[in-house]
Amino acid sequence: MALNNDDLRGDAAHPAALPPTDPRWEEVLSPLRWSEGRVVLLDQRALPSEELWRSYGSEAEVAEAIRSLVVRGAPAIGCAAALALAAGARAYPSDESGLRRAFAGGLALLRASRPTAVNLFWALERQARVFELHVAKGVEAVRDALEREALAIWREDIAACRAIGQHGAALLPDGARVLTHCNAGALATGGYGTALGVIRAAVAAGKRIQVYADETRPVLQGARLTAWELQRSGIPVTLICDNMAGHLMQRGAIDCCIVGADRVARNGDVANKIGTYMVAVLARRHGLPFYVAAPRSTIDLATPSGATIPIEERDATEVTQLSGQLVAPIGVAVRNPAFDVTPAELVTALITEAGVAAPPSEATIAQNLNDTPRRP
Ligand code: MRU
Repeated sequence: MALNNDDLRGDAAHPAALPPTDPRWEEVLSPLRWSEGRVVLLDQRALPSEELWRSYGSEAEVAEAIRSLVVRGAPAIGCAAALALAAGARAYPSDESGLRRAFAGGLALLRASRPTAVNLFWALERQARVFELHVAKGVEAVRDALEREALAIWREDIAACRAIGQHGAALLPDGARVLTHCNAGALATGGYGTALGVIRAAVAAGKRIQVYADETRPVLQGARLTAWELQRSGIPVTLICDNMAGHLMQRGAIDCCIVGADRVARNGDVANKIGTYMVAVLARRHGLPFYVAAPRSTIDLATPSGATIPIEERDATEVTQLSGQLVAPIGVAVRNPAFDVTPAELVTALITEAGVAAPPSEATIAQNLNDTPRRP
């Protein structure tokens, strides 16, 4: 039985309960599509110049799309990987040992694509459990189950973002000038966004919000993606270079900061896009609230603190080139860590679909994980 985007249904009021060709997909602003057993991804490398959609039919292809940032942002990576296993299952053999080999191969490729965002491993674990539950029933059952689970992961992520938005909007006063770093928006999730989801919800509640977007070197997710996404949604946004945030805070132009997360350790330490730590230190210096918005799939209880979160090091060309143009001398030594860790003590509150852990700590996070998530 083939499934499509109709199967995102689960709640009639849910924005993802749309047929694949429904023009309202535009409003959902999701970086993902599922079309006839293939994963279709908005190529985020091409934004804002071009809206290019690429179609993928195997785990290897999607793993490469994740590695090369066609799709990026922790929750979106998780959704894409889950869909990749559903797409790859179309080519599975019918005997059980062949099935097991094929699934394990796909899983390994996706696991190796990027190391920091825990949502990737969380989504793959979910699919691995589903595979084990259905493998004895044969290849058809496995295919259907992987597809159904991937669509559920995607649907649940949008619902989580909407709930995060509702919880977080209450923290933003009317008229707030909010600094964000990287892109934790619809583009980084199944849809709607985490940090930008909070801003979307505050704006929807009638608050006047002004966003300051850090450009976010080296690959400019703030300039290329956050500015594009907010402009498209009609939310006022001002772009700044990363080194301007301190000056603006000092002059009283920022009221609070909100960012997403790629992995939250058990003690509340937060791995997020490189430069986030710098913003958190500045916020503390200037007495400003520093909020982190993330679904509970980003919390990694197996990691006790930020010290053991794996930090991806990416290619030096991301630092030495801009749009293919050299901006540094050939041969210069380069470091390019893609993420940094903000200690929990610098985070005012962690906002999840279940509420606000303030301040984040082992105790408040455990409580949050026990609480019932809000219905969007
Ligand atoms: O390298 P990226 O673009 O995948 O990094 C993304 C980020 O760091 C985001 O800020 C984070 O994933 C939050 S996504 C809701």
